Amino acid sequence: MAERVAIILAAGISSRMNTNLPKVLHEVCGRPMLAYVLDACRQVGTSKIYVVVGYGAEQVEERFAGSKDIIWVKQDQQQGTAHAVLCCKEHLKDFDGQTLILCGDGPLIRAEMFRTVIECYEAGQSAAALATTILDDPTGYGRIVRDAYGNIKGIVEHNDCTKDQLSIKEVNPSYYLFNNKILFEALEKVKPDNVRHEYYLTDALSIIIATGHKVVAVTAVRPEEAVGVNSRAELTQAGKIMQRRIQQKLMDNGVTIVDPVNTWVDARADIGQDTVIEPFTYIHGQVKIGQNCRVGPFAYLRSGTLLGDDVVLGVFTEIKNSTLADGVRARHLSYLGDASVGRNVNIGAGTITANFDGQKICRTDIGNDCYIGSGAMLIAPLSLRDGSHIKPGIVVSQDEVDKTENGN
Ligand code: UD1
Ligand code: MG
Repeated sequence: MAERVAIILAAGISSRMNTNLPKVLHEVCGRPMLAYVLDACRQVGTSKIYVVVGYGAEQVEERFAGSKDIIWVKQDQQQGTAHAVLCCKEHLKDFDGQTLILCGDGPLIRAEMFRTVIECYEAGQSAAALATTILDDPTGYGRIVRDAYGNIKGIVEHNDCTKDQLSIKEVNPSYYLFNNKILFEALEKVKPDNVRHEYYLTDALSIIIATGHKVVAVTAVRPEEAVGVNSRAELTQAGKIMQRRIQQKLMDNGVTIVDPVNTWVDARADIGQDTVIEPFTYIHGQVKIGQNCRVGPFAYLRSGTLLGDDVVLGVFTEIKNSTLADGVRARHLSYLGDASVGRNVNIGAGTITANFDGQKICRTDIGNDCYIGSGAMLIAPLSLRDGSHIKPGIVVSQDEVDKTENGN
């Protein structure tokens, strides 16, 4: 089987986003866009992933510092997508295999779609294969131009389209697979003869076709997966589609989401079977929820929240960087931050962990089977032993606890 590598284009400055942050670091459901594109490459089996970076390169590299399969390639001047791919020439000029090319601003890509493209490429002994989709509103996308037999002739960018071509609804989401050698030969021939005076990767396809090689364009992408993020509005649109996918997967795994539209769950969250998520719940960051829990309505779970099984979190509870063991109940209006709460603890309404003393964050440890009365103010650092009974409405500091426990 031919070896396969991937090139991800992520050097663009993104003027349309009006941002200082590199575009591919903008988050969709809690993860940078680029993370999803990397996932898709890995899922179809790529030995190496070349990521072309330019604007904000250091920031992007730093964010993905742990990924050993990435080779960072610098594109100093953004002269177009073909130029970006050519920046990988030193690494790939002698590579005799398949090269996937994707854009870092297409987080909705799915590995299954790429599997279809790979199958078509291999079955047809093609020099290149690409996925296409049909959009009701194709504005901004490169149009797929086909001949009378339905074979692809080339791709014309929106700004370069004739009036007739503008009405073509089949577009290029920028998911390609190339024979590497043929690709690099064609790239040398691309000229910046277009409205933006850029070197277009899409022109490499027409060049490959003109040299007599076979290129297949397969309609393998659902319209919603084609969304390339070029503006804030598209970022939001991509986020909504991704949110639906995240929730669908959770529901398939046995989680009840009472009101999906009014619930937001981070892509990194892990939720156990038979847990019910009530409306207006916001789960952000690395969060793990066990089985048979009930969360919300109006709960806010932040990064580092770890819930055991049978936990109940009710209205207006905020949890951050805290572990709540099996059977904990915090039904109303509580903040638990940097806390560890033992089994079957009852947290009364309005209980707060005061975890920040103005300089540092301190921890609160609550043992098993404790009762914390309503309105308790727990001043961290604090440690409450198993079975502690805290009366409602009091301020609890470690000094007070020590005094009481020593019988003073
Ligand atoms: C590109 C395609 C278009 C397709 C659309 C799908 C070309 C010429 N056009 O257009 O056919 O419909 O994607 O979303 O390829 N980049 C670089 N270096 C550069 C220029 C771009 O790395 O010099 C990167 C960008 O960071 C981005 C990707 O390439 O991730 C695509 O560039 P972008 O400017 O967004 O192209 P589109 O106009 O969207
Ligand atoms: Mg784009």
